Amino acid sequence: MIFDTHAHYDDEAFDQDREELISSLPAAGIRAVVNVGASLESTRKTLALSHCYSIFYAALGVHPNECADLKEEDMDWLKLQAKDPKAVAIGEIGLDYHWDEPGETVQKKWFSRQLELAAQLKLPVVIHSRDAAKDTLDVMKGERAEEIGGVIHCFSYGKEMAREYLNMGFYLGIGGVATFQNGKKLKEVIQYAPMDRLVLETDCPYLAPVPYRGKRNSSLNLPLVIDAVAQIKHLEKEKVEQIAWENSLRLYGLQTKDILQGSSLEME
Ligand code: NI
Repeated sequence: MIFDTHAHYDDEAFDQDREELISSLPAAGIRAVVNVGASLESTRKTLALSHCYSIFYAALGVHPNECADLKEEDMDWLKLQAKDPKAVAIGEIGLDYHWDEPGETVQKKWFSRQLELAAQLKLPVVIHSRDAAKDTLDVMKGERAEEIGGVIHCFSYGKEMAREYLNMGFYLGIGGVATFQNGKKLKEVIQYAPMDRLVLETDCPYLAPVPYRGKRNSSLNLPLVIDAVAQIKHLEKEKVEQIAWENSLRLYGLQTKDILQGSSLEME
């Protein structure tokens, strides 16, 4: 059973065939998906998807590049939505200095604020961090993120940073980049990190693995990522799939029986 810990099926890239594609996932072994909000609007859509499809769960939050117009009332709204039984995490939240909009101060403010919200709600966080390794870690330490827990999605830093996040108890999200020719840094991280701290993700529609690099990604491509991890870790593919499934359950506080019960009800 494959768990996609980070997807964006609310994206317009899926407007033409969303229903058909999502319905085809269970037969391909994809038995759980966490759709991840990146704005208030996509958080709304993410919740709707999780109500529509039993294998879908929701992460609620605002991406660093989408937080320019956030207000304190929006935090109240997020808090209320997080009571939904399908809500399993706060995210994606973090810092992205690749795109310097909005400025660093604004990004840090809402990153801290959403970490605080996750701590109050006792939900794990999905962290997005790009070109902002040190500041991300500083904000997380300031908010005692080691007590919150979660995943560094699409991990893009080196081994030293991986050690810092692993020491805080975080999982590392591994996706299509693990198959890229120029993905050497990530391959080293995969080799270095314990298998019980890695989870699989697509970040679809982005980051399709080789040989589909540049095309629209979906959870159906995850076996290619599993192959890459299995090769690097010298493990059987089945083993990687199974351990990653268990890691994902721990990360999001879910149980296999609840997931399967939900999807068998749907088939009846
Ligand atoms: Ni994402």
